[in-house]
Amino acid sequence: MPTGKIIIAIDGYSSCGKSTIAKELATKLGYNYIDSGAMYRAITLYFLRNNVDLTNTASVSDAIASINLTFEFNSLTHSSDIHLNEENVASYIRDMLVSDKVSEVAAIREVRTFAVAQQKEMGRKKGIVMDGRDIGTAVFPGAELKIFMTADPEVRVMRRFKEMYATNHNITIEEVRHNLELRDYIDSTREESPLHRAKDAVLLDNSSMTKSEQLELVIRWVKEKSASLR
Ligand code: CDP
Repeated sequence: MPTGKIIIAIDGYSSCGKSTIAKELATKLGYNYIDSGAMYRAITLYFLRNNVDLTNTASVSDAIASINLTFEFNSLTHSSDIHLNEENVASYIRDMLVSDKVSEVAAIREVRTFAVAQQKEMGRKKGIVMDGRDIGTAVFPGAELKIFMTADPEVRVMRRFKEMYATNHNITIEEVRHNLELRDYIDSTREESPLHRAKDAVLLDNSSMTKSEQLELVIRWVKEKSASLR
């Protein structure tokens, strides 16, 4: 494996498997993995719990000033969980209540400024894989490897449905489809760093790829990239 540490930025649509490949890649390379979406979800959870008026900039700024986000290693799951003001909120942030509001919250300039500043800091020492919507375009425009992921919309709906159904038997495929379509629309059309493929990002469509085929391909890209930097 390559020696010089790089930054790997993975962006793409909702539920196309960004976090799966990002986690596998980080484990394989001995890098840190940061799920930037978890930060927007935790902020949304705080806003919902505290009835923050999203249209009131002063209320939004006050709320942000009361938020402290950290990632802590969970020895049971062997992954890092997001903590909101020292509370582990990993099991709440995937809830449909949060999913329904998160894109609206993530479109607010003050929210993005807050989250992006922390994300940039996390990448200072490189050796990081971060996934999200604006990682290769706004957070790490100089990332050595940028991947833009996509998958067939129906494949994405079914993947997310199965994931959510495991903990919530009341969820319907229609609800999941509606949420993914809505988030993709808001995320790609918002004013503040909308989701789009960076010019230098490689495209990964994993609709009909197995996880191991996907990992093999991406590891090849990492090796090629690292070799070209030597
Ligand atoms: O559901 P999925 O895992 O695909 O989404 P996520 O990565 O958890 O992100 C949830 C939401 O956070 C997205 O729909 C975006 O609105 C927002 N987000 C963002 O604006 N920028 C990022 N870098 C990451 C997420």
